[in-house]
Amino acid sequence: MIDAAGGWSAVALRFVAFTATTGALGAWAFVRFVLPALGAAVDERTHAAWQTLASRAAMWCGIALAATSIARLAGPFATIPDVALTGRALLQSAAGQALLVQGVAGALVGGMIAGSIASSPPAARRWPATVEAALTAIALLPPALAHAASAPTLRFPSLAVDLIHGLAAGAWIGALALVATVITRARHAEHGAAHATALFAAFHRVAVIAAPTVFVTGLLSAWLRMGAPEGIASPTYSGLFVAKLLLVGVTGFIGAGHSKLATKRTATVSAELVGRSLLAECAFALAVLVVTAVLVGTAPIA
Ligand code: HEM
Repeated sequence: MIDAAGGWSAVALRFVAFTATTGALGAWAFVRFVLPALGAAVDERTHAAWQTLASRAAMWCGIALAATSIARLAGPFATIPDVALTGRALLQSAAGQALLVQGVAGALVGGMIAGSIASSPPAARRWPATVEAALTAIALLPPALAHAASAPTLRFPSLAVDLIHGLAAGAWIGALALVATVITRARHAEHGAAHATALFAAFHRVAVIAAPTVFVTGLLSAWLRMGAPEGIASPTYSGLFVAKLLLVGVTGFIGAGHSKLATKRTATVSAELVGRSLLAECAFALAVLVVTAVLVGTAPIA
């Protein structure tokens, strides 16, 4: 199964690229939608500290994405030593061009944010327009590296569904990782429960849209991979898909528990209690990304 998906190194690089993409898009959603929804529920210093945490997360995800793109571009040179030939073939292929742009965009996000963290005080750390442009490229590129790009039928809907799926997965799981980090760190803090409650409510507004979108686009994507094309779905691909669905089911189940808590206006969220279940939700989401790294390398049709 792993060999059919390109071998361990290809699967590992795809996993790191998916996790870094989900993390970078999650940091973006956190800064764009979660932090502004907090309003006056947290003080400025805490707000600036959470903005800096999201900036650091986006920075490291950008650097990881640049590194995986370079490694994935270098791979073919190991098997075909003719540098000129391989280089030309890579630059002429859609996947090669997508990896190159992904690498540059990742390096831009990592470098520009590192620069803004080093040069500006916490409260003034806003992302320059170049970072937002690079993040847009990071959001747009994954479908060009997945099955959607070579779909025999309905190619444009495949690319669009895959794009929305990746964006929604970033907003849900990527932002969740930041919420889990903040809340586990706030367990023993003076305003820990108040901060956890405010952050839960703010994140809930994003998750309640992103999670169902992930499910709907995931099902659509599955149909576009296994249902629409001629031929029989490959047992390996459909088996991996079912494994993914089960893992996402557990992730969604834990998430639903958090969502119920967030909608209970009266309840304050105990950072101690939810800290553990948030980490469990993140762990299952990571397992989903491991399975997805094999799924995207496996031929859907036998
Ligand atoms: C925690 C939730 C989920 C996460 C983080 C996630 C993440 C991803 C990622 C990163 C990709 C690759 C996109 C690309 O490279 O363009 C992907 C593809 C896909 N996902 Fe999900 N996903 C989640 C839930 C689901 C669900 C619930 C389903 C089905 C109901 C699903 C079905 C698929 C399918 C069919 C693909 C396309 C694979 C291919 O190109 O062959 N995903 N997912």
